[in-house]
Amino acid sequence: MEALNQKQIPLLDLKAQHQQIRDEVLAEVTRVIDSQKFIMGEDVQKLEQEIAAYSQAKYAVGCASGSDALFLALLALDIRPGDEVLTTPYTFFATAGAIHRAGAVPVFVDIEPDTFNMDMSKVQDILAGRPRIKAIIPIHLFGGCADMDPLIEMAAARGVAVIEDAAQSIGSEYKRRRAGSIGDIGCFSFFPSKNLGGYGDGGMVTTNSPALRERLAALRVHGSNRKYYHDWVGVNSRLDALQAAILRVKFRYLDSWTEGRQRNADVYRRLLGEMKAPVTAPVPTPYQTRHVYNQFCIVAPRRPPGLSQGEWRRDRGLLPAAAPPPGLLRRSRVQAERFSRQRAVRPRISRAADSLRVDRQRCRARLPRHPGVLRLNRCELSSTIGTECFKGCVGM
Ligand SMILES: Cc1ncc(COP(=O)(O)O)c(C=O)c1O
Repeated sequence: MEALNQKQIPLLDLKAQHQQIRDEVLAEVTRVIDSQKFIMGEDVQKLEQEIAAYSQAKYAVGCASGSDALFLALLALDIRPGDEVLTTPYTFFATAGAIHRAGAVPVFVDIEPDTFNMDMSKVQDILAGRPRIKAIIPIHLFGGCADMDPLIEMAAARGVAVIEDAAQSIGSEYKRRRAGSIGDIGCFSFFPSKNLGGYGDGGMVTTNSPALRERLAALRVHGSNRKYYHDWVGVNSRLDALQAAILRVKFRYLDSWTEGRQRNADVYRRLLGEMKAPVTAPVPTPYQTRHVYNQFCIVAPRRPPGLSQGEWRRDRGLLPAAAPPPGLLRRSRVQAERFSRQRAVRPRISRAADSLRVDRQRCRARLPRHPGVLRLNRCELSSTIGTECFKGCVGM
């Protein structure tokens, strides 16, 4: 097994990516530092225009992180203490954390086992039983869009807002519409591991509503659209000029990097099929017309009894998925203390956790996904997965 470990393929090689764009990035960093203009300014504005156009939204507003993007979206929609917000437990903690920060209570709905996204067939019943729900946050997880049309219809009928958590899905498409342009507000993250990742934290919100745009732009600077006049109580959550300048360099490469991810995903699927590996690989649904593969998550079979999840993964050179297993959010102490008013929905979380459980019955692992990695490591990938990876698993 030691030889196998040495072949572990890095999940994401940011150093290699940086080498490709180093000169351009350093020139931009120098330019911004020489200007000594670090807060807002032209770079932020230009990036906002570029991301709005790319996401097919009318407006974009930069902010300090994807977590803040979600928080600002909730504030802009006037979500208050006592309100509830529907989302899924299978996401990064920030989604539920932002709801809590806004004073509201997250209500969890189950996910679909194939897309890992919100199960729209379960939304109607929950909405009917919970009049306090004022907004819904579907997550476009791992780079694939949630099924938005039925959700938008149910939300409109009930008069609640939809916030897309597109942190992992910049450029992803639902029926040829881009993530971030479908709901009332879209939220993006520029965390370094994202498809468009900064050299630090950053985020952005998108919207088609001029009124929401105005509010979002004010809320990120203490509720002020005019210096020293504060119409709302907001926060300090600006995207800084250095990040914006670097992101504008990387943005020029985004489509070619995305195409690399898509090619890699196709090859992974083919290799896994040829090897008859007993795993379920992600296959975009017909409505996911552009999947951007922030991660390529496979669902693996039961592992042999007596082996911990960590040992199983380590021995096979596999890496844990970036989104926590659903059970993690359910089990976390904060969740228990803060989100516990929602007994009625707890069983749903358990079912989601059981259906995709990573640590007991089924294993989830993700494969390297940076463009170029696959070609370089093709042999390692096929030998790792084909010969050793699933040996001894139940069902083999
Ligand atoms: C689904 C999801 N939502 C929200 C966030 C929060 O973004 P950030 O890390 O930029 O605050 C992330 C980032 O990991 C994410 O994956």
